[in-house]
Amino acid sequence: MKTEQTESVLLDSPKKSTKEPVIEINGLYKSFGNQEVLKNLSFKLFDGENLVVLGKSGSGKSVLIKCIVGLLRSDSGIINVFDQNVLTLKRKELDDVRQKIGFLFQSGALYDSMTVKENLEFPLKRMEKQLKQKEIDEKIIEALENVGLPEVLNKMPSELSGGMRKRISLARTIVVDPMIMLYDEPTTGLDPVTSDEISSLINDIQKKYKTSSIIITHDIECARMTADRLIMLQDGEVYEQGNLNKFEKSTDLIIRAFFK
Ligand SMILES: Nc1ncnc2c1ncn2[C@@H]1O[C@H](COP(=O)(O)OP(=O)(O)OP(=O)(O)O)[C@@H](O)[C@H]1O
Ligand SMILES: [Mg+2]
Repeated sequence: MKTEQTESVLLDSPKKSTKEPVIEINGLYKSFGNQEVLKNLSFKLFDGENLVVLGKSGSGKSVLIKCIVGLLRSDSGIINVFDQNVLTLKRKELDDVRQKIGFLFQSGALYDSMTVKENLEFPLKRMEKQLKQKEIDEKIIEALENVGLPEVLNKMPSELSGGMRKRISLARTIVVDPMIMLYDEPTTGLDPVTSDEISSLINDIQKKYKTSSIIITHDIECARMTADRLIMLQDGEVYEQGNLNKFEKSTDLIIRAFFK
């Protein structure tokens, strides 16, 4: 007979624990001056999963993903992406790893002086593999269709709503077929309906592009909709990790503050 305890262990084990990690972070430290932001941080992102990262404002979530893509240099520790430690890679090797990672910035940041089409062309033209214009056009249309906005091809970002701009930022990220997606607050500043649409899109992208994703969010609805697994950061470390059920049922006050 199963005891209650074994049941809860089974319930709380990661859904995809049999899969290989695509990102493995071990003992990561990052300080700014004497402010220690990340302290001995360790976790894994498994192949094909959506991993939601929770943590209060200033807990180091954006710093973490900037360290993963090398926009910030961490002080020590290991960040393995596809078994390569990005902290020890040379420029060229780091660029190769970066090509496999799509990063949706917290600010969304489209180029205001470029049309939607030009915004999407930009990452495609920077790819090592030179594409023909026809291939570029096809990829742009496909990415716009995947975010449900094929009609805005020739519009300027200033002509779009906040939710539409977020979708275009998403299209610009997926247009290069990334294997890993890093979403920094993908639904912040959007109304609840648009937020849910973006969360659904994140799930669509996971299925269609077979991406493994880290989703940083304050939006508990977004977490509920997208998470295969969650981790919570607190004081620069992983405070808790597990599946949604574990977080929803937690009686810990810090976790309850998120899951009201
Ligand atoms: N480039 C930088 N220089 C100095 N300090 C920084 C820098 N980037 C981040 N910090 C500091 O690191 C801490 C963590 O910042 P971070 O942006 O990672 O927080 P966050 O968890 O993403 O918060 P939010 O939920 O508000 O986006 C903050 O105290 C911030 O001031
Ligand atoms: Mg942030």
